[in-house]
Parts: sequence; structure tokens; C-alpha cells
Amino acid sequence: MKYGIISDIHSNVEALNAAISKMEDKGVESIICCGDIVGYGPDPEECITIFKELPIHSVIGNHDYAINCINEEQSFNTYARLAIRWTRKKLSKNSKTFLKNLPFFSEQENFTIFHGTFDEKNPFKYLITAQDAVKNFTDIKTKIGFFGHSHVAGYFIQTKNKKINYYSCIEGCKLTLQKDNQYLINVGSVGQPRDGNPEAAFAIYDTSGNTIEIVRFQYDIESVYKKIIKAHLPNFLGDRLFSGV
Ligand SMILES: [Fe+2]
Repeated sequence: MKYGIISDIHSNVEALNAAISKMEDKGVESIICCGDIVGYGPDPEECITIFKELPIHSVIGNHDYAINCINEEQSFNTYARLAIRWTRKKLSKNSKTFLKNLPFFSEQENFTIFHGTFDEKNPFKYLITAQDAVKNFTDIKTKIGFFGHSHVAGYFIQTKNKKINYYSCIEGCKLTLQKDNQYLINVGSVGQPRDGNPEAAFAIYDTSGNTIEIVRFQYDIESVYKKIIKAHLPNFLGDRLFSGV
């Protein structure tokens, strides 16, 4: 089975469509998302429609959550807050309900997906350091955890003797899974990469080949930029796409 694991679409339908066609080319059979379908970008309704139609199974991200829970905005910076208020006005009632019903965590074949951290009390905490990874490795019951939230592609490996190492996937990467290791994979962001590489990112998990690959690819940033300006969303949200910050 080939899974395509995506995250942090952020209402960027150009990047989402490019990711889907890239995954089709690579023989992906099922697409799963680690959250943040909406927020920041100009096409929230269009992205949700694609999620419903394909369908793409997703957990909830903090921006998805903030659509129905205004208090969540308090943790947002000015750009994120302006964009989430704009998105709330744009979305249909059906789409708001769709977001409301997304789970925080989801366990599949032999992997778990979540947005920020595998912790019911604090699901939107960032998983950045090896120290953060320790608790996740302990709590996750599956061999692999896929997540997003930081928009930075990379992965942690924990060996049998509990040694943890981190590897960046800024230029993409491919790893072969080892029997006794555990893995936490940040699949990066489809719609707003922040690791200095403006190319979008997603992961392919091939269960028969026992490999995970992080794919980076170009998409039509110019079109998204124009839509952001036309929608009167902050210019910065368009500018940042060109530099991947
Ligand atoms: Fe995000």
C-alpha cells in the first residue's frame, strides 16, 4: 500500500492540486492529512471540497480548530488572526461543521497521525526537539507517527537503545524503515513551507517497500500570491510563499 501523507495545506488550492497529481504519478492509493486544511490562504472552501470529494482523511489542526473555537485565536500572531477571521466569514456552514468533526488523532494500519503533539491535553504544542520527541515515542502505540504544524520537513528516529536522532528533509529525503526503530515524521507543509525551501512537501509511505520518502516539488506560487492580494489578505502571507518562511 502506498499512502500519501500531507499536512498544512492552509487554503492553498494550487499547491494541494499539484500535490495530488504528483501523488497520483507516484502511485499513491490513499491520501491522509495531518491537519490545517485552512487558514492563511485564499481558497479554504475549495480545499475542503477536495478533501470531501476524494476523500482525504484528516485530523484537525489548530487553524481548523480556530474556525469553530474563537478562543484558539489568542495563541495566533496578527497575520494568522486576520486570516482566520477572513476564513470564518468565507466558509460555508457545511464546511465549518466538516472541520468541527475532524478528530485530534487517528490510528491507521501501523501508524498514527496528529497535528502537533500526540498529547490529548496539548495537541497543538510543537514537536521540535529530541526532548519533545521522547514523550511522543513513549505514548504512541504504533511504530510510526506522522505530524506537521511547524511546516518544517524532517524526522526523528529512536533506536532500540532509546537513542534519538533528527534528520532534516529540506531538500527531500528517503529512508528505509528498520525493524527495531520508531519514527516520528514531520511531513512538512503543502501550502506554506517554512524551512527556507519554497517547494511544497509531502510524504509517501510505501508499506510493502518499507520506505518513507519526503518529496519536494514546485507549484504555481504566482497565482496564489495574486489571489491573496485580491482577497485583501496581508501581503506578507503572499510574499512568504516565494521564500519559504
Ligand atoms: Fe499550520
